[in-house]
Amino acid sequence: MELTDADDPRVAVYSRLTDAALRRRTDADHGIYLAESSAVVRRALAAGHRPRSFFLSHRYLESMTEVFAAHPGVPVYTGTDAVLESITGFHLHRGALAAMDRPHPLSPDEVLSRARRVAVLENVSDHTNLGAIFRSAAGLGVDAILVSPESADPLYRRSIRVSMGTVFSIPWARVGEADGRGRAAWPAALDQLRAAGFTVAALELSESAVDLDDPSLRDHERLALVLGAEGPGVTAGALAASDVHVRIPMASGVDSLNVAAASAVAFWELRRGA
Ligand SMILES: C[S@@+](CC[C@H](N)C(=O)[O-])C[C@H]1O[C@@H](n2cnc3c(N)ncnc32)[C@H](O)[C@@H]1O
Repeated sequence: MELTDADDPRVAVYSRLTDAALRRRTDADHGIYLAESSAVVRRALAAGHRPRSFFLSHRYLESMTEVFAAHPGVPVYTGTDAVLESITGFHLHRGALAAMDRPHPLSPDEVLSRARRVAVLENVSDHTNLGAIFRSAAGLGVDAILVSPESADPLYRRSIRVSMGTVFSIPWARVGEADGRGRAAWPAALDQLRAAGFTVAALELSESAVDLDDPSLRDHERLALVLGAEGPGVTAGALAASDVHVRIPMASGVDSLNVAAASAVAFWELRRGA
């Protein structure tokens, strides 16, 4: 379907993509997420997610014909670059966009059932860091990811793109949402991990931290690695709820690594069988 009007209501879900806060609200209200780039759209479809519509400029139509054929009845919206840009707010240089149904959220029990190595993201609110952690986790043998209530949405457009679509393949769940009486269940969720047989290790440069290559960290059958936010790091509550604190020794004059870089180093060092 050819778009000619920037205010066409049929493509409201694609409008003002540059406004991150508004998008998060709008996406949640619509129960959708946006897959951006032909490769990410294909990965989302391969993961079994259902498209609601496709949105792309004329010149990408031909390269996606087999995708459209596999999803008859799903609207394909197209237009000139200028019209599409007036809707999204930016130039669509990565090919296609697709509005996808948000998959049913997994429960922590589901994602943990067979996991041996788990990453726990506490207040990782930056979509780029979150996406990069997912990519490292998927590439370095982490089986599942838990995200705390204040962490960014793994299905936000930028998280998906930076993760290279690994947010579709690595099982993840939100933990520690407030209970019915408004009490936050974070960081109590870490106790549930321990009860499930995990050793909970907070990656943080605390006074009591052991070095990442400490022999005591080897051979844990089930290990959960807690990562903190860029500024504050792992909170005092989560540190207290962890079994051990782990530091990556830093060269003098450098305080810390970016959280995504730290995650990759730790995932590799503490991989199973290392
Ligand atoms: C940039 S750091 C937070 C700031 C840090 N608390 C500080 O004092 O500068 C973000 C997160 O990355 C991880 N991290 C970064 N560098 C680390 C290191 N050298 N050892 C262990 N964890 C590290 C931790 O999980 C930390 O919470």
